Amino acid sequence: MIDKIKEFIGEAQSFSADNKEALESFRIKFISKKGILNDLFNEFKTVPNDQKKEFGQAINLLKTTIEDKVKSIQDFLESKEDSQGIYGDLTRPGSPISLGSRHPISLVKNQVIDIFSNIGFNVSEGPEIEDDWHNFTALNFPEYHPARDMQDTFFVQTNPEMQLRTHTSSVQVRYMDEFKPPLRTISPGRVFRNEAISSRSHCIFHQVEGLYIDKNVSFADLKQTLLYFTKEMFGKSKIRLRPSYFPFTEPSAEVDIYWGLKTETDYRITKGTGWLEIMGCGMVDPNVLKNCNIDPNEYNGFAFGMGIERMAMLLYQISDIRMFYENDVRFLEQFKSSF
Ligand code: PHE
Repeated sequence: MIDKIKEFIGEAQSFSADNKEALESFRIKFISKKGILNDLFNEFKTVPNDQKKEFGQAINLLKTTIEDKVKSIQDFLESKEDSQGIYGDLTRPGSPISLGSRHPISLVKNQVIDIFSNIGFNVSEGPEIEDDWHNFTALNFPEYHPARDMQDTFFVQTNPEMQLRTHTSSVQVRYMDEFKPPLRTISPGRVFRNEAISSRSHCIFHQVEGLYIDKNVSFADLKQTLLYFTKEMFGKSKIRLRPSYFPFTEPSAEVDIYWGLKTETDYRITKGTGWLEIMGCGMVDPNVLKNCNIDPNEYNGFAFGMGIERMAMLLYQISDIRMFYENDVRFLEQFKSSF
């Protein structure tokens, strides 16, 4: 009997398996209910007392040998599986690829481009570091004119002639220099103003400005174009134009849309009036056309400009402009389902 146990110990020690099935049948053979170990424990009861000690020790040795063996082969098989990694099983489903999302500023910008391209406007771009001529002088801002203070400018320290553009009207000057009318273009882009940063304003923001030059363009054309835009963009079909002043347009106006007063938010953002200011516009001043070598007796036109952040804040109900620039993934991820 002792010899039989020793034989089993030998068998267990020399056992090896390279797959889970072989290991499992080894385990069942020895330690399942009907396994060898159970049989031995049953026999143990019939062993004479003076042999019990030797017999018991042998069974225990067999038991631990088998348990150690099973554990070590199991570990080995698992580590082998791990090291084979994704190539171990070619039918395993792939790990998901995490998709990025567009920035809300890009979403709104693309939407504006889409709307205006439907009525024949193309997209033009220009440099962010501009000279005084394109950002101010050509746009009918006389030197030392207080209108320059409307847009607090960042100047380039080594060359005060150069500045960060304060609006994308500078792109329109470049466009008029380069192309002959009729012209229809919108200029989206980043602009810079030396303003205190708060939840409502930032020193960097984005604009889309539009320019339309042809023969016999009227103020009614401007109004209809803007009405078309506000309907498409906000689904609102009531606008009003209030007289305003810009050096490069005459007459000039601020455009308000009627947002409504249905919710508490409507009351808050419209300060209880129902109206929201969304852009500036006007008929291009003849001086600007002259500065860009377009004959104001032959051609005229209109221009308009709006802030992209402001529109994004309205459309997505974002209460703090700084969120656009913080690159907080929790904020950006919310735009995943947008187009
Ligand atoms: N350039 C103006 C601004 O940045 C906006 C504007 C553009 C107004 C065109 C009238 C016409 O405030």
